[in-house]
Amino acid sequence: MFETKGGVLFIAGLGFFALAFLSNAVVPVLMYKDLPEQPVEELVNSRIMYQFEDLARRYPEQFKKYVGDPTEENCAKLMRLGRQIYIGEGCWHCHSQFIRPVSNESKRWGPVADSSEYQNALQRPVMFGTRRVGPDLSREGGRHANDWHAVHFFNPPVVSPDSPMPAYPWFFDGSPDKPNLRGLAIITYVQWLGSWLKEYPYYEQWEDINRED
Ligand code: HEC
Repeated sequence: MFETKGGVLFIAGLGFFALAFLSNAVVPVLMYKDLPEQPVEELVNSRIMYQFEDLARRYPEQFKKYVGDPTEENCAKLMRLGRQIYIGEGCWHCHSQFIRPVSNESKRWGPVADSSEYQNALQRPVMFGTRRVGPDLSREGGRHANDWHAVHFFNPPVVSPDSPMPAYPWFFDGSPDKPNLRGLAIITYVQWLGSWLKEYPYYEQWEDINRED
């Protein structure tokens, strides 16, 4: 078998496959086997509760009608629903949720993604995304206020001139100050992204403030 070029390449191919399987499947499983997968309820933290309560204050009628009270339980419910909408609307066609340690991505979006961040129920399956027409969203939480998001989803160019992002009028009961259940859920989900980091909310200019040393 080693006499021919084809034979050598064949063996090498199998070797590389085995190596890839080892590094991409076996090693991660061994690394995280003792780290339990967090359920959504455990992902509710003080940062996302702040945003959730802010939604209840800004849109009291809509919030009461579609959600009820801004409890942790309802917050978990909307995070779950928001993620389903994120998938259903195909947001991941244009947005990634993975900051790579290359091309100064951390300068633009914040800390490089750590695999332990994906060890929870809202990351099944992980929305890495396929391309980046828009920015990475994994540190989006806290970057903009809730009403910015509402206006942006209602009609992106109003707050982001020349934006190619589609408008999502079906997240609203008519106007941007009337988000419906979908609108409230997607905003909650987007505000949750990155809320688990100590650097939240992430802005490059805030780096010095957040630095511990
Ligand atoms: C056709 C591609 C496309 C789709 C689909 C899309 N977006 Fe966007 N999105 C963009 C682009 C481009 C920008 C940057 C310009 C802007 O702010 O509108 C953006 C910006 C954003 C921002 C603001 C980012 C920031 O901090 O500046 C958020 C949040 C966002 N998108 C969420 C979503 C969500 C949620 C969905 C699905 C409901 C979605 N996008 C669907 C292209 C897209």
